[in-house]
Amino acid sequence: MRVGVVGGGLMGAGIAETVARAGHDVRIHEPIAAARAPSLARITASTERALAAGKLEAQEQRALLERIVYVDELAQLADRELVIEAVVEDRAVKLDYFRRLERHVCADALLASNTSSIPIAELAAAVSTPERVLGLHFFSPAPVMRLVEVVAALDTSEQTLATARRFVESLDKTVVMSKDRAGFVVNLLLVPYLVAAVRMLEEGFATREDIDAAMALGCGHPMGPLTLCDFIGLDVVSAVCDSLFEEFKRAEYAAPPLLSRMTSAGRLGRKSGRGFYTYQATR
Ligand code: 3HC
Repeated sequence: MRVGVVGGGLMGAGIAETVARAGHDVRIHEPIAAARAPSLARITASTERALAAGKLEAQEQRALLERIVYVDELAQLADRELVIEAVVEDRAVKLDYFRRLERHVCADALLASNTSSIPIAELAAAVSTPERVLGLHFFSPAPVMRLVEVVAALDTSEQTLATARRFVESLDKTVVMSKDRAGFVVNLLLVPYLVAAVRMLEEGFATREDIDAAMALGCGHPMGPLTLCDFIGLDVVSAVCDSLFEEFKRAEYAAPPLLSRMTSAGRLGRKSGRGFYTYQATR
């Protein structure tokens, strides 16, 4: 399939790597020239890890990287059959991209968003053919996580969903179908758990290390909840809280003050070098 990815950040780069690895031809639209080199470096480093672990052959790595091309104009996505939007989690920015994408990509291309908090129906309303709009929600790190949530909005067609399912399966990932409700399946379960850990820390119930060790060792999670907040990004966790609260009006979904203050202070986790923990380098 000819696939476009809009945005070359953490998720965009991870999605592009995953898609190219499955043999699809990928164009990444990254309009900020200075962001392209770090984006490619992220993909290269990730494939190096896969190579070192014996998950990828050197020749496959070269072929994967050759299938990825960075473009700076949306018009260069004109021949794409599927475009996955993975720009910053900001409603106005995403809506603007959907309006512009409609002008540039062919009329039967699927338009997907990797949003974790914005209703797909809202994005679909920005284009005149909402039947081709859906959510494709990847998890971080995209090349490693085995799940993609496929989100059907009110007007998403059966044909769009069937094509999306085939596409996700071609990536060797498992599909979970979700209604277009804030949080979808995973974040509606995960985020209340993460913020419960933040509240626990805020209330002095246990130290950050003990909260994390409890869930990593007691429940076999790969990371404790505060480490996972840092990994996801506190701004993203906060944005998901806001959308869950807005949608369901339940107190347990509201962002705790500590999370809000840390986000306002720019302590966003790994990507800013400091969250609940301090980091030397981002990955
Ligand atoms: N391609 C394929 N495989 C790769 C790879 C790549 N580019 N890079 C790494 N891998 C493999 C490694 O070989 C390793 O495989 P193994 O388990 O068979 O040995 C595995 O992936 C783990 O990689 P690493 O060894 O580099 O790293 P760690 O063992 O330290 O694990 C982690 C890192 C995968 C991030 C792990 O800690 C983890 O799973 N954490 C939880 C992540 C999580 O919960 N993500 C979801 C967040 S929620 C979200 O994204 C939704 C959003 O809307 C908020």
